[in-house]
Amino acid sequence: MCGIVGYTGFRPASEVLLEGLRNLEYRGYDSAGVTVFEEGGMTTVKALGRLSSLEEKLSQTPLQGHCGIAHTRWATHGIPSDVNAHPHSTQKVSLIHNGIVENYLELKTMLQKAGYTFQSQTDTEVAAKLLDYLYDGNPLATLQKALEMIEGSYAFGILFADFPDRVFGAKKDNPLIAAIGQHENFILSDISAALRYTKDFYVLGDGEMVEITPEQITIYNRELQPVSKEKQTAHWNVEQAQKGGYAHFMLKEIYEQPTALQNTIHPRIKNGLPNFAGDNIPSSLFTHCNRVIFVACGTAMYAGTVGRYLIESIARIPVSVEIASEFRYNNPIIGPGDLVIVISQSGETADSLAALRLAKEKGADTLAVVNVIGSTIAREADHVIYTYAGPEIAVASTKAYTVQVGIMYLLAFSFGLCRGQIEEAQCIELTKKLLQVPSAIGEALKQSQQMEEISKSFLQGVESLFFIGRGLDFALAYEGSLKLKEITYLHSEAYAAGELKHGPISLVSDSVPVVALATQNAILPKTVSNVKEVKARNARTLLICKPGVTIDHDAYDYLVTIPQVDDLFAPLPTVVLLQFLAYYKAVDKGCDVDKPRNLAKSVTVE
Ligand code: M6R
Repeated sequence: MCGIVGYTGFRPASEVLLEGLRNLEYRGYDSAGVTVFEEGGMTTVKALGRLSSLEEKLSQTPLQGHCGIAHTRWATHGIPSDVNAHPHSTQKVSLIHNGIVENYLELKTMLQKAGYTFQSQTDTEVAAKLLDYLYDGNPLATLQKALEMIEGSYAFGILFADFPDRVFGAKKDNPLIAAIGQHENFILSDISAALRYTKDFYVLGDGEMVEITPEQITIYNRELQPVSKEKQTAHWNVEQAQKGGYAHFMLKEIYEQPTALQNTIHPRIKNGLPNFAGDNIPSSLFTHCNRVIFVACGTAMYAGTVGRYLIESIARIPVSVEIASEFRYNNPIIGPGDLVIVISQSGETADSLAALRLAKEKGADTLAVVNVIGSTIAREADHVIYTYAGPEIAVASTKAYTVQVGIMYLLAFSFGLCRGQIEEAQCIELTKKLLQVPSAIGEALKQSQQMEEISKSFLQGVESLFFIGRGLDFALAYEGSLKLKEITYLHSEAYAAGELKHGPISLVSDSVPVVALATQNAILPKTVSNVKEVKARNARTLLICKPGVTIDHDAYDYLVTIPQVDDLFAPLPTVVLLQFLAYYKAVDKGCDVDKPRNLAKSVTVE
């Protein structure tokens, strides 16, 4: 949450900073602000709400200067407001922050006794004033002292008034990189903020500080000794991080799914068999573990839920799926012999990271399935498999889910093959079918207009609904329901089709419709019976099933058939239809599709 940009170089700083914030706005959009060194000193401009409000203000009073910092906020301490927006500035310093200063009340009291007053309700203002209080003419030594006193998590970007050509930064538990330009340098939450200028960067580790000038980047450890870093290079380009003619990033990303899946699975199939040698995954990872535990949040967790069905049914290994935010507080029973798989698009989700660290501490093997190269989860796990979705900008995950599920298939096949649960010939057959899924997704994309019409009429006037399914359809129901609720603000719940009658069916009525996923032919009659049960309670139903099946007309009001694939692969084309259902409803309601209220793309606080 919160996006950070710092710039020093030869370009107009406010232009570079605003461009950076535009690309980081997905990290939070409660307010935005900027500080630039002008002729007479530091000038700060802040605005409540979307970045456009700040842009509006800056167009009236443009800032002149070549060095500055900027921030886009997802509120933690203090409501979204002008005064709570970052940067927080004094005469001596200006500071932006992603994270939480946990001991801010204690520090605030100490500073108040020293004569400081506070305007905002934020923990960040305390950090700014602490630096002001400790400042002794040496920015790095001051920062070092402040960090010793601050408890919590942070990525800071800081300007010191006495050093008008440089930006300082520090990191603990929240991401911060230093991006490398020609006669210009940057500090950033992630590289998407500066792709127009560079793809090269260094990743800061916890406890490290950075100082950038136009010609130099110096990274220091806690003892203020310079540390050398390996240069990383982003494989994303500017175009990928732009809308490219689509009305929304979400729509663009829905359409990118065949390519994203193809890019993710192709390099991992050799001679018709799954092969993770390119990811340096030893085959012992598949043979040695006694059980698998997926840990993740939100959509990534639902990808793990599909993974659980696949691995259990194909490889016969016990698998559980844990909510990352619960995992570490439940004293989980894990240890050597367990494989903990953390799934994360961003690779920075605080709860998933904490779960990973706990799993390592307890001696489990750890594997990360991550989209963002060089992210913290990717760096800290014992093994990493990167998904190749490219940058996902819309807050609602679409292509990231698809590529995560793609990896779930390959993992299930590898476990099955390595443990002798499936023969090589069977595995080749499965892999062949997986390779056809990108084109099945392409077919599902052609159903966009049908789903738009259904979305408008089926969800007309609806405030609450259910998604139901059995087996893989149940796993997918969670994702369909989450997608709908997060971008349309309709209340929606996912239930196992057979479970509805044990309570929730009392909510079903003519104004509470049901989306029934029934793509698993082996259990189709069972699911259809459950659909009839809700029809008998006057619910309107949208039934989604495979082509060529016969279903009583009285079971549904709307029927959608998915492209032809084996039952095992049905979740991927089906999820596209559910994404369209949610997307078109959100558009119809006039919701902000790419930036739903209260949310942020990368959740780096607990
Ligand atoms: O970056 P991560 O995959 O770790 O994020 C986890 C969740 O916050 C994320 O999947 C969230 O649920 C989606 N944006 C919902 O569409």
